[in-house]
Amino acid sequence: MNTGDGPGLTRLKAAARRSAQACGSRRRPAAAMTRTGLHPCFLGPYGENDQLLESLVVEFLRDHVYWRRNLHPEDLPAIPTGANREPGYVAFEARLRRELHLLSAALKRSVPFHSPRYLGHMVSDLLIPGLAAQMLALPYNPNNVSAEAAPITIDLELKAGLQLAEMVGWPADPAREDCAFGHLTSGGTLANLQGLRLALALKAFPVALRAAGVPLPGLPGDDWEAFNTGPAAATALYAQWCAWRDALQPRERRAWQQRVEAQRIESLGLADFLDRHPQLSTPCVFAPATAHYSWSKGMKMLGLGRAQLALIPGQAMRLDVDALEEALEHCLRLRQPVLMAVGVLGSTEFGTIDPVDRLADLRERMQSRGLGMSLHLDAAWGGYLASLFRDADGRLRDRDAVAADFQAFPSPGVHAAFAAIPRMDSITIDPHKLGHLPYGAGAFLCRDQRAVGLLAEDADYVFDEAGDGGFFDRHRHLGRYIPEGSKPGANAAAVYVTHRVLPLDHEHFGRLPAQGILAAEKFMAEAQAFIERIAPLATATVPFAPDCNLVCLAMNPVGNRDVARMNRFMRGLHRSLRADPGQPLQRGEYFGSMTTLRPDAMGPADSARVLQALRLAPDALEGGDEDRIVVLRHTLMNPFLLDEGGAGGGYIRGYFDHLERLVAAALVPAALAAGA
Ligand SMILES: Cc1ncc(COP(=O)(O)O)c(C=O)c1O
Repeated sequence: MNTGDGPGLTRLKAAARRSAQACGSRRRPAAAMTRTGLHPCFLGPYGENDQLLESLVVEFLRDHVYWRRNLHPEDLPAIPTGANREPGYVAFEARLRRELHLLSAALKRSVPFHSPRYLGHMVSDLLIPGLAAQMLALPYNPNNVSAEAAPITIDLELKAGLQLAEMVGWPADPAREDCAFGHLTSGGTLANLQGLRLALALKAFPVALRAAGVPLPGLPGDDWEAFNTGPAAATALYAQWCAWRDALQPRERRAWQQRVEAQRIESLGLADFLDRHPQLSTPCVFAPATAHYSWSKGMKMLGLGRAQLALIPGQAMRLDVDALEEALEHCLRLRQPVLMAVGVLGSTEFGTIDPVDRLADLRERMQSRGLGMSLHLDAAWGGYLASLFRDADGRLRDRDAVAADFQAFPSPGVHAAFAAIPRMDSITIDPHKLGHLPYGAGAFLCRDQRAVGLLAEDADYVFDEAGDGGFFDRHRHLGRYIPEGSKPGANAAAVYVTHRVLPLDHEHFGRLPAQGILAAEKFMAEAQAFIERIAPLATATVPFAPDCNLVCLAMNPVGNRDVARMNRFMRGLHRSLRADPGQPLQRGEYFGSMTTLRPDAMGPADSARVLQALRLAPDALEGGDEDRIVVLRHTLMNPFLLDEGGAGGGYIRGYFDHLERLVAAALVPAALAAGA
């Protein structure tokens, strides 16, 4: 059967078929053998680790109470011992219990993220270390806006940033002046915004230095050159300026600081800044067509405008570096400044990984020709996969070593992408996605801590830097840098403790994403069998071979040439795979999500290939009401997805059997009617 797959997918399927045929007779991949190591990590689909979690919660809640009592035991209790017999107390407790019961009952209709039957969005069961640490920290209510409000958890947040930096291969020794720096955000959206903010600050700062007339040696010759300094040289320039300024007498120091601040884009605003520098114009940002919509939000929030975000159509949903090069050449010719190029490590909808190494090479070539820009890696989804590529001593593992655990992962291109992560300037990684931690935990990382002073809300010199002036003293006042103000320290505790219990290397944390990759390989094999089984009813295809554990599936009823009908059929399937809060949750056999394929994101070659694979006309997406293809989307991150579970043949096989029944229910009556 010709499913119209690209060569990548054919290779992957062949590998997946080999995996299916092996049926346990061949060497089991090492990662599969370590699955028992995951047993203590989660509450579990059945609540198997209830006693562990309960004992931790009770123990540390008591511990918190002792802490309160021991602050000033000589103080008399403010709430008298008999208070719980007062009518008001009793009534209050009754209301409280009632509301909590109602809440608990309502929450039973939540989406069962913890279940191996949930294959929908980027969320799964929560790691016990994170859950316990977060619950432990909650009653202390630390506010990670500043060390005064969170003397302990601020440092944990900075340390969590260093743990993530080490995982991606950046210098993480706080004694180094070029040590990396990271902090948590509410999610990937704000981490991406931080990337934009820092890139803009670094881009415009050399221009401000020139405008302020700072007598530093080696300043760029004109505004265009200054705007194209590039992030590494701009960071060095900023550090040089800080050292020069700090050596001045206090009054002079303050005067120079104010002079430079007055010239910065952050003080002037974009319009005034550009008015003063007519050689310059609003810089643009390039991102792959797969980029998450947070990039559009970020451009708007920063006042750069959505129109300055140029999406580069991909090749098989991966950044087309040649097309980006062409666009950058065009910018160079027109002297159009470029703020940033974005790479995606694990796209939201297809799990594809951009050629980060080629992106970094391209940036170097453009920089050497005078077009400077930052590189940001949006690894909100795929960031934790980097743990698979790290040895316990922090060294990058070679491809063969990583591949020994899998059938087809990682492809040479994927390995090269992970190896090139350290060449980025900033990165988004979300602990609340593949990090299996509670929501409210994204992370922003920047390669060189010296740059983040540029994000500070107040002038450096104003800040009281008590202590040794080292890494932690410098960065503890997080509120200066982050887009938020007050923010939970309990999240930081969760991230830090989790990384301590499961260090971010392949032997520890890496066993988790390894399960996801193995599940994706199994999923591909089962998808192939499913595609063949349902061929009499529907034509199905995996439109883009995944690079990691996120797989989409497109289907079209046999004989159908109408995109609108196909999409109705697919939306119907998706409705059956949604957790419906109006129905008992148990009615849902499996839970999935959907997305769409748009021709502008796919590019002409992939659009034609996918349409052909679905037996649709080449122009099927033109002119009609429907300009996109609805597909089912599967995120394969549940740690127990490969277990046999209750369903014969395991959860993945069970899912495809269920899908087959849904397809049959939707299409058999019509097929019978047509035949009758
Ligand atoms: C690649 C990518 N970047 C950014 C985000 C935004 O993350 P959040 O929803 O945590 O803000 C997502 C979310 O799915 C994502 O997949």
